[in-house]
Amino acid sequence: MSKLIVEGEHRLNGVVHIHGAKNSALPILAATFLAGEVCEIENCPLLSDVHAAIKILEHLGCRIEREGHTVRVDASQAGGYEVPDTLMREMRSSIVFLGAIAARTGRAQLSFPGGCELGPRPIDLHLAVLRQLGLCIDEEGGKLLCRVRGRLVGCPISLSFPSVGATENILLAAATARGTTTIFNAAREPEIVDLCNFLIACGAHIRGAGEGTIIIEGVDRLHGCHHRVIPDRIETATYMGAAAITGGSLLLKEVCPEHVQALIPVFEETGCQVTAWRGELLVNAPGRLRRIRTVRTLPYPGFPTDAQALIMALSSVAEGTSVFIETIFESRYKHVCELMRMGAHIKVEGRVAVVEGVSTLCGAPVECTDLRGGAALVLAGLAAQGITEITQLQHIERGYEAMAETLAGVGAHIVLQSGYGADT
Ligand code: EPZ
Repeated sequence: MSKLIVEGEHRLNGVVHIHGAKNSALPILAATFLAGEVCEIENCPLLSDVHAAIKILEHLGCRIEREGHTVRVDASQAGGYEVPDTLMREMRSSIVFLGAIAARTGRAQLSFPGGCELGPRPIDLHLAVLRQLGLCIDEEGGKLLCRVRGRLVGCPISLSFPSVGATENILLAAATARGTTTIFNAAREPEIVDLCNFLIACGAHIRGAGEGTIIIEGVDRLHGCHHRVIPDRIETATYMGAAAITGGSLLLKEVCPEHVQALIPVFEETGCQVTAWRGELLVNAPGRLRRIRTVRTLPYPGFPTDAQALIMALSSVAEGTSVFIETIFESRYKHVCELMRMGAHIKVEGRVAVVEGVSTLCGAPVECTDLRGGAALVLAGLAAQGITEITQLQHIERGYEAMAETLAGVGAHIVLQSGYGADT
């Protein structure tokens, strides 16, 4: 089993180049199936989740060429509509393929996506909105058997929660539906805007991306395009955290500072100096972090749930007590037990976690529980006394490209020890 071996207490200093956003690349890759022609996607990160999405596209009949961070998808001859269970389970967000497959082929057959480490990942909102657009969905034996009678028909859709994935599925299904679809209470994340920009480049008529109300005028068909994926705001937050927790100084390049506006005041509350200018972000950290009074996760533009674990790692060595309220996912504190193995003082009650900062953490053998929880353990290891060994790295590989090399390049004492045999 592969593991990361981290020797803590080394201040980081240098330049980090941020990759393209995983949560933007995934729905955009699904949208290439809908485009039905050749699409060239630049700045696509090399991640296992992206590889899983590419495998689904190939299974549907797309021809894929990958050169570094550019993926070329030719969907012109693709006509598949089934996604096997094995591929569905590889990536939780594979449900976003449903809207694209149904819109293009008039049918779809896929299984319920696997749950994940964040608790059950329901898809009730996805199914409800697609039914409103005219998709007939039968659920039997863990499979979704879907068929469109004629063509999907646009309509007004109100989301009870600004679900990112449900908003994406509506966009993919409505882009070529007959008539107009208006989404009320749409997700406003930058990844939604990036998907809309991709679809507009393919010929879709979409207004209001990034706002609470999005209007899609269905067109008969889309065409190919060339698109560059936006920077990953959560990877940005992760390396900001690496500078902060080691008392270091990192210059992050190829970032979108406006996408981390909710995070900058949190880092400043810890005593970090954050300077942002076009495409770059400089983080200078104090010797000891100050506590963050309250972190409440919210839909964008609020504090992102994906940064909760990262900031909790910082709080665990800050001076004072911090309170976390996780309002988005029902069980997103799996990383707490592992941080406590390193000496963190954390108490969880339901969606609330209280973190009492300690002066130092102690290196220990820990296991990644999910993608961002795993990244939090790396951050904690960078600050801990002694050696931290981190296993179950498949979680980190879903969302971070070359994390160990990147950190080593700015002074971290971190080594990836490749295991023998499959990672369990
Ligand atoms: C996306 O997940 C991201 N994943 C998540 O990032 C991110 O944490 C989340 O948005 C919130 O920002 C991708 O983009 C691939 P939601 P998604 O639909 O679409 C409930 C990471 O670490 N819900 O906005 O699944 C759901 O259970 C990942 O990169 C329903 O109840 O998020 C959750 O509590 C983790 N029914 C809440 O809504 C539904 O049908 C937010 O879900 C759908 C969602």
